Amino acid sequence: MTSGNKTYISELKNNVAQEVTLTGWLYNSRASGKIQFLIIRDGTGLCQCIVEKGNVPDELFEQLKHLGQESSLTVTGTVRAEERSVGGYELAVTNAEIISPATDYPITPKSHGTDFLLKNRHLHLRSQRQWCIGKIRHTVIDAIRRFFNDNSFTLIDTPILMSMAGEDQQSLFEVDYFGTPMFLTQTGQLHLESAAMSFGKVYCFGPTFRAEKSKTRRHLTEFWMVEPEVAFIDLTGLLELAENFVSFITAQVLETNRSELETLGADIASLEKIQPPFYRLTYTEAVDILTGQKTKDFLAKELQELQNQKQQIETKISELENKQTGQLKQWQKDKIAAELIELRSDISEVDTKIENNPKHAKLAAEFQWGKDLGGSDETIISQMHDKPVFVTHYPREAKAFYMKTDRNNEEVVLNFDLLAPAGFGEIIGGSVREDDHDRLVARIKDQGLDIENYNWYLDLRKYGSVPHGGFGLGVERTITWLTGEKHIRQCIPFPRLMDKVYI
Ligand code: 4AD
Repeated sequence: MTSGNKTYISELKNNVAQEVTLTGWLYNSRASGKIQFLIIRDGTGLCQCIVEKGNVPDELFEQLKHLGQESSLTVTGTVRAEERSVGGYELAVTNAEIISPATDYPITPKSHGTDFLLKNRHLHLRSQRQWCIGKIRHTVIDAIRRFFNDNSFTLIDTPILMSMAGEDQQSLFEVDYFGTPMFLTQTGQLHLESAAMSFGKVYCFGPTFRAEKSKTRRHLTEFWMVEPEVAFIDLTGLLELAENFVSFITAQVLETNRSELETLGADIASLEKIQPPFYRLTYTEAVDILTGQKTKDFLAKELQELQNQKQQIETKISELENKQTGQLKQWQKDKIAAELIELRSDISEVDTKIENNPKHAKLAAEFQWGKDLGGSDETIISQMHDKPVFVTHYPREAKAFYMKTDRNNEEVVLNFDLLAPAGFGEIIGGSVREDDHDRLVARIKDQGLDIENYNWYLDLRKYGSVPHGGFGLGVERTITWLTGEKHIRQCIPFPRLMDKVYI
């Protein structure tokens, strides 16, 4: 390898005016006569490396000029602070060594279609966007563990292979377990409840599987969920725990990943507002909002805004199309072509929203008390709020068997969903658990579940039953909200979707 002081791009700030060596990949490059600008990435960031003819051997200068995107190499040079440069530092190159040249890397800096990028996810992970999301995902997961570990929770690993349903029976993935049917876990909650009776405050964190036939921007068939469970807690206590938890995660991401959030175009000002207390609505209040004038006015205003947005994008497109006909260099043509692809995809998205607006208005206006809130209902409620909203006390019939009924109104349960603001929708679902043995038996039977499978779970209500509860936070839903990504599939490295598993 080339001599010099090996360092990482994230450490360049400590090496100004020194000669260092970076090891990485060629992210992008541009040559202009006697000078080349190589953008190198090394896993910790991007750095512009400037190669001037005469400062490196002529043969190397020529090799670098023709080096393909994603070739691996080492670069040695002197570090300079340069505000205008990506990352704030650049390297005046004195030497380089090509480790493995790459030709015809399929993902160029131009835009590509979603399907193409998902098929090439093993390479697309190297893109700036995927890198930023991956860094934020890491912080979110670290913050989750830190929050519970620092608040005296004990980590309990719950099984992935299950003999019974933890949520609804329709979304179970069946596995052949030596001739006996078993299921991939939908939740660690039931096992976690037993651990809460031993340790008091516990959490589990792992992959979760749902065979949901939903192709929405919010659904994965394999996702990560963290679930705390607490003995001796009521609904008020659970809401406080959830709002402190989500505020902590958000604060950690703001502190650690500000530049990644900026690169992604996330709404940082909105994230800075995420502090307790969050808004609280009962389900019945939410239904009143959905069926009332406020929602009608809100959706009419939204439609108007979408139409304006569409007009603005169309104007931009025709401006760019006019520009395209002029005398341009190749890189300028490429840039315009990439911008046009983006704008056309924005238009098709706005069109879908315009098409959906009256459908959602109808669904909201005709919403009947008793149904679960649908995706569009959640979107409307969450669009009306600038901080997360708890919706509590759902109808018993719309919810899982384990939720405790409100003893003051047996039609509803002591549960909550937490809706992230600005239209992102549900990121947490949780409840107080039914702790009365006989009522729980009745609920299990009501829902057509086989009571034999739940005998061990019922034991928890026989031997020292206590009020208890917990919730589950979907990691990818949370990252989608924090980053402002349009689709949840961007927020897990290798997404599993109902209609397709790419790689
Ligand atoms: O509301 P859910 O179904 O709650 C439970 O599973 C409870 N047993 C949790 C508990 O009380 N311990 O799911 C919890 C969260 C949702 O709010 C959502 O964030 C995420 O899990 N989630 C999904 N994320 C991505 N794709 C899917 N198909 C998801 N289904 C649920």
